[in-house]
Amino acid sequence: MISQTENSLTYPFSLAPLAFAYDALEPCIDAATMQIHHEKHHQAYITNLNAALKPYPELHDFSIEELLRRCHELPVTIRQTVHDQGGGHLHHRYFWETLKPGAAGVKPNGTLAQAIARDFGSFDLFKKKFVEAGVKHFSSGWVFLAVDTDGKLEVFSRPGHDNVLLEKKTTLLINDLWEHAYYLKYQSDRADYLNAFWNVINWEYVNQRLENLYATEEQPPLVA
Ligand SMILES: [Fe+2]
Repeated sequence: MISQTENSLTYPFSLAPLAFAYDALEPCIDAATMQIHHEKHHQAYITNLNAALKPYPELHDFSIEELLRRCHELPVTIRQTVHDQGGGHLHHRYFWETLKPGAAGVKPNGTLAQAIARDFGSFDLFKKKFVEAGVKHFSSGWVFLAVDTDGKLEVFSRPGHDNVLLEKKTTLLINDLWEHAYYLKYQSDRADYLNAFWNVINWEYVNQRLENLYATEEQPPLVA
């Protein structure tokens, strides 16, 4: 039996409004895609997750992170649904949180800039690796910038809504490789979509996520 260890948003999960208008990321991400993505796709994951959890009041006090981290302990009948729909909810939450209008030309600074230089060589090499991972990923999924258990940054992709909580990785930045995220504007050109992403990232927020993590866990030195 699992016990509650985190206090955050719990059942019934709900769709948070975005911090900006649906057309605010134009021309990088078009308004129609943003609206459908948020109101239809993300909402559907939340609706399906809540429906699966409804018959299990003993699970209603758990955060989405805790449910996913301990998915193997959930009733077998809802395990896959929580993994898929709950993963969809969590990943889209990360995604919206790290988007920001008018960020063209903005680069990471502070701790994040130092960590990127340490682990990828430069910001440009990091971007190249992130885009390559996204382009090469087969089918639907997500591409991540995450922190591994040693505190180092890494780039990788995962299929579907597979999350990295059980791998004890912390997600800093995430981009959606499902066709609903880009097909209206970019059709099959996933590389163009991934390259446009650099114009709409809230780097201050990403840096804060890393600094919060480094404040609580042992980290590798930022310079050799
Ligand atoms: Fe999506």
